[in-house]
Parts: sequence; structure tokens; C-alpha cells
Amino acid sequence: MTSHFREGLFAGRSALVTGGGTGICRGIALALAGAGCNVAIVSRKAEHLEPTVAEIASLGVRACAAVADVRKPDEVDAAVAAAVEAFGGLDIVINGAAGNFVALAEHLSPNGFGTVVDIDLKGTFNVSRAAFPHLKARRGVILNISATLQLLGTVGQSHAAAAKAGIDSLTRTLAAEWGPVGVRVNGVAPGPVDGTEGVRRLVTDETRREIEAQCPLGRMATIDEVSNAALFLCSDAASCITGVTLVIDGGLWLRSGRALGV
Ligand code: COA
Repeated sequence: MTSHFREGLFAGRSALVTGGGTGICRGIALALAGAGCNVAIVSRKAEHLEPTVAEIASLGVRACAAVADVRKPDEVDAAVAAAVEAFGGLDIVINGAAGNFVALAEHLSPNGFGTVVDIDLKGTFNVSRAAFPHLKARRGVILNISATLQLLGTVGQSHAAAAKAGIDSLTRTLAAEWGPVGVRVNGVAPGPVDGTEGVRRLVTDETRREIEAQCPLGRMATIDEVSNAALFLCSDAASCITGVTLVIDGGLWLRSGRALGV
């Protein structure tokens, strides 16, 4: 990735990235490390962590891997403690752990709906809550990974859209509660991002063609583009920005269902 940021932008800082072993959050973890940040990544699966933690370390910063399910507060507390122990503190938390599948509400069990809300929304709360004392000590930053599903009525996504709407709300509330002690809380809301598990699971070839035809910028976002927005919001360049969720989708959601044949 060619960085748009100055070398060493995050030197001396430390981040914890949930879901950081794969996909968008792996991209953000590597971008932070490339800018000099120590990075801890958290996943339910050790096999998702091992290759990425090696890549982070190869960038010349300290790396830490913690196996934890963000649905389980005890495991979250242990993961945050491991990162603090490894780095001596925490400046940045990226809440990216998420789960999703396509299912119409009429076919979705209560446990199916609840599982996604538990991972995405409650997981974001659990990690933010556990990290807060450490972020407060360093006037740190939280970045929540949202989506654009919840901005419209996305068929087959009642569970994920509700969870992401809750995350957007949490971003605003925590920004209001924690701003006075110097902790900023923001979000990024990627639309479909090329090369991710989400697109592999949710976007068919036909849907991809529709996206490219409708999107004002004519294509899906890339992981690097989402990482650039994440680095901006975590950096001092965004020092007066809190409580916002920045959409990164080439303008796609603005046009969805509004083509009118012209
Ligand atoms: N359609 C409908 N229901 C589904 C489903 C699908 N495709 N996949 C899972 N569920 C339901 C299950 O049936 C179960 O409900 P039930 O007990 O009433 O039968 C519930 O969801 C929990 O499933 P389970 O597989 O036990 O949960 P898990 O904790 O092992 O997995 C998921 C979590 C379901 C989110 C799984 O898809 C996952 O692990 N995803 C991680 C990666 C990912 O989703 N990445 C994409 C990001 S966009």
C-alpha cells in the first residue's frame, strides 16, 4: 500500500484491533503498523491471527495476538489486559469483529438474529467498556466499523442492519460521554469492499454489475481506501472530530434505488 500519511505518524502509540486477523480490519491493522503503531489483534480463531501478527511484526513495530470472543466480557478483559501488558498502554481501539449472513427475517431464528447483534453491537460495547480506562489515561480514540446496510431497508439483513444501527448510536453516545475526558469515538461505514469475506458472502456477480452501474464513482471501495479513512480519524488530524460515522462507498448508498432510468 502506498501511504498517504507521513512516516511514523503513529510512532509510540499502541492499538487494539478486533477482527484484525482478516479483511478490512487486517488492512487497518497493517496500515497502523506501517505508520509506526504497535498493534494487538483479536479474533475468535488463532489461525486468523498468526499470519497477520507476523506481518505486523515484520513492519518493525511490536505485535500481539489475543484469542477472544467479543461476546464474552471475561475474554475481552483478558485481551485488553494482554495488549496493555505488551505495550504499556493503549491509544487506539478499532471495533471490527463482526458476523453476517443473508437471511430473510421470516426465516431467521431468534438465536440467528441475536448472534449477530451479540457479536457486532454487544461486542463493540464490551471492548469499548474494557478499554476505556486505558484510553482515558492517554486521551485515546475508538473507531467503530459500521456499514451502509442500516441506512436503507436492506433485504435479508434485518439482523446486521439493526446491529450496525445500534453501533452508530453507540458511537454518538460514547462520544458524548467520553469526550469530556479526551476520548474521541468515531466510525467508518464501508459499503461493499472488494476482496472481503463480506463481498464473497453477500455480493453475486449480478449484484456487482449493478453496484458498478449505480455507484457515482463506478466501483466498490478497496481495503486501502477504508484504511486511509480509519487512519485519518485515529490521527491528530481529526482532533476535533468525534461522534461521526464516515461513509466510504463511492456514493453508492446515495443512488441505491434512485436511478430513474436516466
Ligand atoms: N441463515 C440463517 N440462520 C443462520 C445462518 C444463515 N446463513 N447462519 C447461522 N445462522 C443461525 C444459526 O442457525 C443459529 O441459530 P439457531 O441456533 O436458532 O439455529 C445462529 O445463527 C448461530 O449460529 P452459529 O453457527 O451457532 O453461530 P457462531 O457463533 O458459530 O457463528 C455467525 C456466527 C453465524 C455470524 C457465523 O456466520 C460466523 O462465524 N461468521 C464470522 C465471519 C463472518 O460472518 N464474516 C462476514 C462479515 S460480513
